[in-house]
Parts: sequence; C-alpha cells; structure tokens
Amino acid sequence: MRKKVTVIGAGNVGATLAHRIVDKQLADVALIDILEGVPQGKGLDLLEAGPIEGYDVKIKGTNDYADTANSDVVVMTAGFPRKPGMSRDDLLKANYAVVKAAIEQAAKYSPNAILIVVTNPLDAMVQTAYRVSGFPKNRVIGMAGVLDSARYRTFLAEALNVSVQDVEGLVLGGHGDTMVPVPSYTTIAGVPVAQLLPKETLDKIIDRTRKGGAEIVNLLKTGSAFYAPSAAVVQMIDAIFNDRKKVLPCAAFLEGEYGINGLFVGVPVKLGANGIEEIVQIKLTPEEQAELEKSAAAVKELVEIIGV
Ligand code: NAI
Ligand code: 2OP
Repeated sequence: MRKKVTVIGAGNVGATLAHRIVDKQLADVALIDILEGVPQGKGLDLLEAGPIEGYDVKIKGTNDYADTANSDVVVMTAGFPRKPGMSRDDLLKANYAVVKAAIEQAAKYSPNAILIVVTNPLDAMVQTAYRVSGFPKNRVIGMAGVLDSARYRTFLAEALNVSVQDVEGLVLGGHGDTMVPVPSYTTIAGVPVAQLLPKETLDKIIDRTRKGGAEIVNLLKTGSAFYAPSAAVVQMIDAIFNDRKKVLPCAAFLEGEYGINGLFVGVPVKLGANGIEEIVQIKLTPEEQAELEKSAAAVKELVEIIGV
C-alpha cells in the first residue's frame, strides 16, 4: 500500500513540496489550506501532470481534514509571513494560533503520523506541534538544519569550486540569527575545511549562511525561499519512508542532550521509519557548545512568550 503525506498549507513551500513528492512517487498527497479552491486547483493541476510524468500517485486538494485521515507523515507549512508593522512577537502569536488549530485537526485524523514542521518561527512552532499533538517526541520533527546546512554547503562548494557532493557540513541550533554552523565537522571529500579555506573566507560563509533566509527574502521582495526548503523536507520524508537511518540536522526535543532540556533545538538525529530514532551526540568545541547554548536561549525566549 502506498504511503500518504498530508501537506498543510498550499502556498509556496506546501505546493512545491507536493510537486516534489508526486514527482518522486514517494506517496499519495493530501494538500490542505484554509483558502477555498487553491489547494483543489493546485492538486488537480498536479494530478493532471501524472500522465505526462508517468506517476500514478494520487493528489487531492481540500479544505477538509477528513481527507487527510491516516497519513503516514503530516508536514506543517501553513502560516503567515511577517507583514510591515508586525513585530516578531505578533508573528509568533499569529502562527501559534495557525499551528495549534491545524495540528489539533491533523493529529485527530492521523494519530500515528510523523509530524514535520516547517512554519516559522520554526523551533517555537515545532514545540507547539509537540504539545498540541501529544505525540511522542520521536514523531515530531522540525525542518531547518537540512536547509541551513544545504546553504552552507552550497557556499562552500562555490568558494572551493568543488562538487556540492564533496562538501559535508552541519548547521545546528535554532533556525535564526543564532544558528550554529559547525566548522569542526565541515569536510571537503574528507579533508577538514580549515586546511582548504582561509579563516576569513570561512567566517564570511558562516555569516552568509546565518543570513541565508533573509538573502532570498531581499531578492524576492515578497515571500521567502521554497525550492530548497521543500527539497529539505523531501530528504527527511525519504529517510523515514525508506528507513535509511540517515543522520541529518533536525529540530528535536532535547532532554539533557547537549546540556539542553525541554526544548526543540537543531541537532544531528538519526531519521528512520520511527522518525527520530536517535539524537546523535557529537563533541563540539567549547566555542561551538557556547554558541549552541546561546541559540537555545533565544529559542527559549520565544517558547516562553507562547507558553508551550
Ligand atoms: P505562503 O504564504 O506561500 O503559504 C502559506 C499558506 O498557508 C497559504 O496558502 C495560506 O493560505 C495557508 N494558511 C494560512 N493559515 C492557514 C490555516 N489556518 N490552515 C491552513 N492553511 C493556512 O508561505 P510559504 O512560503 O509557503 O511559507 C510557509 C511557512 O514556512 C512560513 O511560516 C515560512 O516562514 C516557513 N518557512 C520555514 C522554513 C524553514 O526552514 N523552517 C523555510 C521556508 C519557509
Ligand atoms: C528561510 O530560511 C524563511 O525560514 C525561511 O528561508
């Protein structure tokens, strides 16, 4: 029997994700949005591409959570972007309400699903989904580290003029200005990056990575990134459906790991059929550990505002 993925939010990230999932024939898709007609229209358009692309997977656009029933994975992408005059706290509260309402419904119809949260502010929203769903921590995952690490790897590959496939690099911490690229585990075909790039160049790449989301927002003028974010979610779903035990940086609920307690923060995890099967504890330099704790403190501030 084919797997089923519900994508909540048929906007840029959600619709592009649905497209990628059906193109790869990973699963049937339920695409749900609050807007009437938009998920139905995008769903039908994607379904009609099936005979050309050769996929038989089904995709249904809907406004009704009953259509999302028995999903194996639910991806939360719905939310508001920040508008002029809106503070970070206003956005936090608006998206908290969206995530709470949507996850309550989705969890009711798919009680055994694995939740992947994309909506920003990411770490606080995945913590909201965890509390609202009541799901065990292995089945609630935040997407940010795969995207931030992909940006880091892209910039490194460009600077060194090497294949992106040769660049391994991790970005940990919260999905914001305090995120933590980890040079001590950054390698190019196995060679530590410090042997290949001057420190000033690496520092510039780290700074650009931290501002990677804003760089795209400034170029687009309206809206934010969606091609790389949707690709990141697909990599996570693929690891789960194929039980790959793949080590990827994801926001996971920490209970003492890395000295952090009761918070979702980006760390390396092993993703397989059961979702987060292990939090992989790597040894960080004292500077990297201090940066991770600073990043966790920034996440904690947001989480405390909404009380989750
Ligand atoms: P978008 O504005 O294109 O789409 C959002 C969709 O959510 C809209 O279609 C809207 O109608 C829908 N929506 C709003 N309230 C809803 C509700 N209560 N129920 C169902 N649908 C609802 O935004 P985009 O570009 O798709 O981004 C979505 C979210 O993902 C944003 O919060 C964005 O900041 C975040 N994001 C996070 C990333 C990460 O790394 N974690 C990367 C990229 C985006
Ligand atoms: C990004 O990093 C907006 O969080 C989103 O592109």
